[in-house]
This record gives sequence, structure tokens and C-alpha cells, in this order.
Amino acid sequence: MSKVSIEPIKPHIGGIVHVGKAHLCDDATVEACRAALEERGVLVFPRINLTDAEQLAFTDKFGERVSFTNSVPGGEGDDDSELYKITLDKEFNSEPEYVLGTWFWHIDGVTIDQPLPKATMLSARKLSPTGGQTEFASTLAAWACLPEEEKAAIADLQVIHRMEASMRPMYVDMPAERLGRYRSMATVMLHPLVWTQASGRKSLVLGTHADEIVGQSLPAGRSLLARLTEWCAQKQFTYSHEWQEGDFVIWNNCGVMHRVVPYDATSGRMMHRTTIMGAERLGHPLKQVQAA
Ligand code: OGA
Ligand code: MN
Repeated sequence: MSKVSIEPIKPHIGGIVHVGKAHLCDDATVEACRAALEERGVLVFPRINLTDAEQLAFTDKFGERVSFTNSVPGGEGDDDSELYKITLDKEFNSEPEYVLGTWFWHIDGVTIDQPLPKATMLSARKLSPTGGQTEFASTLAAWACLPEEEKAAIADLQVIHRMEASMRPMYVDMPAERLGRYRSMATVMLHPLVWTQASGRKSLVLGTHADEIVGQSLPAGRSLLARLTEWCAQKQFTYSHEWQEGDFVIWNNCGVMHRVVPYDATSGRMMHRTTIMGAERLGHPLKQVQAA
């Protein structure tokens, strides 16, 4: 009998992985999870209670791990953990605005000039009594279900993504020093709105970092991006995860966007994150494109 089974949550998105911890790193489990991640977008391992070492072992078995601990702002220096701690607790994270950015729809790693991270993995260590559900929207299903004439109208659009755009909700007037920092630490990227992946599947590339549509006025481009985001966020394309402590969730960062419901910043909510490197580049730095 197989040691792993995966149960769909909703027709377009979500899967629950039933596997004993002892079989998590079996070849058959990892293979089943890789395939299911493509199909289901998000996989939930309810109350599996992974230790950091177990999460790292599974991450390394799954793919090439991206080490963020020394590159994500505020994530450096608390200890030598190889896992990034997603928390607003100042003891662990000195720059909370990046974590506050998770309250808005986004795709991880879009403003870094590297292949798009393939998967993000989170273990719930401590929950907030209010909020904190993580919501996922299938950008593959959302594209597939768009009416044909809308697909045709947007198929070739290019979008400029800026980290500062994803930080705007945090300020009325963004201090110049902050703006300079966002500009120096991230890359302004030009990505297709509709991404044709190597598999041949297409997904919408959206999120608060999507700032401008090439060739359109700011209000025209931004209102279209907002409308498409509303389309993706419809119930049929989304799954909202109500966490229990010890849950482990992984998502296909190339096929879903995600956000978290606002939670109590003093709750100590704590998620331990690992990231799997992707193999495909989405777009290019804007400057490189202009110079070419
Ligand atoms: C992330 C993220 C959401 C959450 O880790 O990339 O967006 O629920 N986290 O904390
Ligand atoms: Mn994220």
C-alpha cells in the first residue's frame, strides 16, 4: 500500500497530503508531492509538526534550497538558523514592513533578478488568535477560465514590477531613505502579464509589486491589474488555509499568488520558511531590456 495519498480540497486548488512523518522524505512521497504541486497549487500537511531539521531535509530532498537568511531584510543576525522566520515579533525581525507586505497579494521573489522561486514552504510555529489565514489564488486556473476575448486582449502585455510598489501600502509618504533602500536592494523587472511556462501552461503574473503596464497610462494599467487581481481572487480559484500549530504548507510559487489575512502584530505569530529555487526565468531586468 502506498504510504502517501493526496486528497483534493477544491476543484481548482488545494490538496491535503496524508503521509506519516517517517515517510515524508521517501522518493515516492517527494515524487507524489512534486506532481500534486503542479495540479493542486497548494499542499497542506496537517499538524505534521516538523522540526527545523526535518523541514530542511524535506526541502533539500524536494529541490535546490535558496538561502534567504542573509539576504532578506531583518532576517539576519538572530541566530544561524537556515530557515527564515516570518514574524512581526521585533525580537526576530527588525524590519517588519517586508512582512507586512505579505498582507497583500504577491508572488515571492518577483523583484529579484533570478529564476522565479519554484516553491515556498511554511511551518506554523505560533498562531495569532485573530486573522493569520493564508490565502492562495490559482493564477493558472484564473487564466484558463478567462473569456477568450479577454485572453486575446491581454496576452502580449508586459508589466513593470517594483519592490517599492509592494511597500506603498505601508506609508502615506514613503521616506526618501526607504525608497532608496527598496531601489537598491531589488531590481525593477519587466515580466509578461501572461507567462507561458516551459510546461506550456499559462499563468497570470500579478501582485502588489505589479506597478505599470508597458504602453498604457498609469490609471489604465493599474485598473486593469486591479481587475485581473479581483478575477483571480474569486472563491472558485482560491483556498484559504486556517492554520493549526504544526501545519506544514507548500505552494507552487509559479502557479499561485498568496496573501495573509491581517493578524495581531503582538501575537508572536511565527512561521518558519524555506524556499525552493526555480528553473525558469519569468522576465528580465527593465534596464537590460532597454539597453538591448
Ligand atoms: C511568505 C508569506 C504568508 C504567511 O512567507 O512568503 O507570504 O502566512 N507568508 O505568513
Ligand atoms: Mn510570500
